[in-house]
Parts: sequence; C-alpha cells; structure tokens
Amino acid sequence: MVENPLRVGPGMERPPNPVTVVIFGATGDLTARKLVPALYSLVQEDQISPHFEIVGFARRDWADDFFREKMFEGVTRFSRFAEHAADSALWGQFSAHLHYVQGNFDQPERYRELDRTIAGLAQEQNRPDNRLYYLATPPSWYDVIIENIGKAGMVQGENGWRRIVIEKPFGVDLASARALNGTLHSVFDESQVYRIDHYLGKETVQNILVLRFANAIYEPIWNRRYVDHVQISVAESVGVGSRAGYYDQAGVVRDMFQNHILQLLTLVAMEPPVAFEADAIRDEKVKVLRAIRPQSVDEVAHHSVRAQYTDGAINGEPIPGYCELEGTAEGSQTPTYAALRWQIDNWRWQGVPIYMRSGKCMPTRVSEISIHFKQPPHLLFDAVDDESLRSNVLALRIQPDEGISLKFESKLPGQGVRRRPVTMDFRYGASFGLVEPPDAYERLLLDAMLGDAMLFTRGDEIEAAWQLIDPVIQGWEASGKPDLEIYEAGTWGPPGADHLLQSDGRRWRRL
Ligand code: BG6
Repeated sequence: MVENPLRVGPGMERPPNPVTVVIFGATGDLTARKLVPALYSLVQEDQISPHFEIVGFARRDWADDFFREKMFEGVTRFSRFAEHAADSALWGQFSAHLHYVQGNFDQPERYRELDRTIAGLAQEQNRPDNRLYYLATPPSWYDVIIENIGKAGMVQGENGWRRIVIEKPFGVDLASARALNGTLHSVFDESQVYRIDHYLGKETVQNILVLRFANAIYEPIWNRRYVDHVQISVAESVGVGSRAGYYDQAGVVRDMFQNHILQLLTLVAMEPPVAFEADAIRDEKVKVLRAIRPQSVDEVAHHSVRAQYTDGAINGEPIPGYCELEGTAEGSQTPTYAALRWQIDNWRWQGVPIYMRSGKCMPTRVSEISIHFKQPPHLLFDAVDDESLRSNVLALRIQPDEGISLKFESKLPGQGVRRRPVTMDFRYGASFGLVEPPDAYERLLLDAMLGDAMLFTRGDEIEAAWQLIDPVIQGWEASGKPDLEIYEAGTWGPPGADHLLQSDGRRWRRL
C-alpha cells in the first residue's frame, strides 16, 4: 500500500501483535458494518500481525463459508478499502482468517468448544494465544457472556493475554452500570477491560489533547479568566432508523450525552495529565466529571430542554414524525433532542457555563465544540449592534470537514475603522491530504490489541458520568419539567433551546 507521505510521522509504526479477535454476536449488524471492515482496513494497511484470526460466535447456525460471504458484503459496502475486497485474491487471503463457531450464549459447553477452536488456531501457527473478546451483542447478554467466559476458564492464559471489549450502552443508569462493572470485575481485572466509546476513536477528538497540550498558546487562556462559555453541539441528520425499540427506551440523553458528549467535555475541560498514558489521562477525566455540579430535580427543569421531532423534511425528503415509527410506544415522551447547561466547580472553570445540545433529524450532520472567549476589557472602536456576540471563538470541528477555526475581528479595508469577524482555518483534508479519516473502530481495535486503554472509558469514569445523567432523566420523569417540546424534522431544534442561552445573554453558534 502506498503511504501518503503527509500522514506518516514518528509513532505510525505499530508493533505486530498476533491475536485472535473473538466476536460475540457475530451475526449482528455491528460486526458486518464496523468490526470486520475495520479489521480489513487494518490488514490492508499492514497495521496488524499477519498472524491474526477472527472467530465469530453467535446463535445462528452459520458455516464458516456463509460467515465469510456475509462479511464480504460488509467489507465491500463499509470498508475504506472496499475496492480491494473486490479483488478475489486479496479477499481470499483475508477471508481465510475468518471462522465461525455456533453457540447459544447461555450454553457453557459451547464456550469450551469456542475455547478449543481459538487455542487450536494459535497452536497451528505456533504463536501466543492472545485473545481480544468483543461483545457485540445486545447488552442484555453481557452478564451471561462474561460469566460463561469466566466459567470456561478463558480469562487467563499461560500463553498469551486476554482482553475484553464492551460496546455501549454500558448500563441504562448508575445502578445498572455499577452492576455490570461488578460482573466484569468478578471475572476480569480492570486492566483487561476496554469499554468502547467510538467518539474517542475519532481523529479530531484525539486532536483535542494535541491542540491543548502540544501547543503553548492555548493553555494560558483556557480558563475562567478568558473563556466566557463553551458549547458542544452534536447534530445528526439521521433519525433512529431501525433502532426505535432500543431508542424509545434510551432517548437522546442516554444515547449521546452520557457517553459521547460528556467524553468530549472531559477532554476539553481536564487538567494537563502527568503523562500521556491511559490512567494518567483517565484520572484527569474522572476529576472533571466529579467537579461538574450535580443538579437537583428542580434545577434540571431550569437547566435543560427536551424535545421530540415531528414529521418534516430533510433535503427535500419527507421524514415521518418520531411517534409514527414502528417500535415507539404510543404517545411516546422520549426526547430525540436535548440541550443541557452545566457548571464545573473547580478553579479553572468556575462560573463558565457549559452548554450541550444534540438531536436527531436536524438539517445536517455536524459535531462541533466551540470555546467562546470574553469580550476585550475596553473597546476602542465604535460598538456595533451585536457586540456581545462578536467575541473570539475557537471552533473544533469534529465532523464532517474536520478542522479547527479561530474567529476574530479584523479591520475592513478602506477608510475609517470598520470591523468584521474573519476566520483562520485549519482543515485536516487540506493539511494532511486526508480524504477520509480512518474509522474510529480501526483505531480502537488496534489500541485494544496493543493493550493501550487510553481511548477507552474506565469503570469509575462511566459511573461518574451516570451520576450526572441519572438526575436529569429522573428530574424529567419526576416533575415532568421542562415540558417536552416538539421540533419539525429538518429544523435546528425547539425554541426552548434558544431561550436557554438567551436567558444568559448568549446564543448558539450557527452550525
Ligand atoms: C451512537 C448512537 O452511539 O452514535 C447513535 O447510538 C448515533 O444513535 C451515533 O447516531 C453517532 O455516531 P457518529 O459517529 O455518526 O457521530
């Protein structure tokens, strides 16, 4: 494969690590859409050892060949290297590493069969029996699978490491997350556990740390003295697709805020870690979550907005309302949009509001973090009408058009001193010749194989996040406040979201 010279830098070389990836729930959507395409891309880029095997484990009675066919469909549709898969020689090489073991997740004897298969593959290749277990099943199976892996003696091996990757959702509230952590820790050591939040695998999200801690100019102003407020926006143009059954129980706060958006906040708000190393970073992230002021039921009503989309259109395509979807309860009150306001009680952020918003069926897909700076202390120039809205903004564009821009005032050419906001832009595409960033799963799978847990959520971190989110959901349920608003599909959300910021004399950044 020809390397893009702009992308190669120190640290791109990653040691090969023979491994068997064992996917529980291998017949599901995630495996064909994300996991196997990501592994295929890693192989194409020579990022993993040629001694890798993928073993799918699931209830359906599939043969190896049928599993391979299904994965071929997935790779040709979803991989960055889809066109390579069409080359039968290349696909043939890759697919020889795909295996399937049939078994019900609650049948202990099938785990012993699975164990024998995996051990046999390592023996044949005379290599260590390193294993990455990946739980890609509905969460209701997590406990059963973890316990059965334990009972089958598959947690420790004399000849190789064992790790487990767990997909979200990790619990539905604090109590269930604690219980799941309990099950995990009764079988695995925390150092073996990799909880996925795919936002952490995004290039732009990792770049938050580089921006903050590899440059000297940002940190001195990254605090309450200079920052007026922070906005985190994750707008999705998609609806809930075929997942209405899950989504109607979860809602936007569990689906997007408890994990992805709070993770973004921790990276933006954390103190410099003592080392660029998993636990040092995660320690700092946990501190941020613990410093966020928890909200009482009454406060939730005041600091949040929730809404659900009704029918509308996106890009001319008619979109049925959320309640019309199959799988949603009649008269469902599940929010598909929320906006929340938080305060962080620590020296760096005291008094700096953090506003977050996320919704489905918005006009376009865009995720952005923006740092809004304070006004200059004294203005020498004629004031303009919307002066308070013309502060400097540093915008970190997570997706799409990944990049960073700084908005500042500039003099309009010509007589007098008239001003206009301008932007200085960095774009990944232009600077690094990056057409399509690697999928988050590529990075995360590779890190898990390498034993680097930096981009995975630790058990205490997940619990600290639920500790903040539980009262929001309970507050809404207990008081019914604020009212569930509606917004038309294809619009930017309900009026209440604008009022939330207007009541503070601010407004959302236009996305
Ligand atoms: C998932 C949510 O975790 O993240 C989905 O369950 C959401 O509802 C998705 O659409 C968004 O991810 P991305 O990478 O498309 O921003």
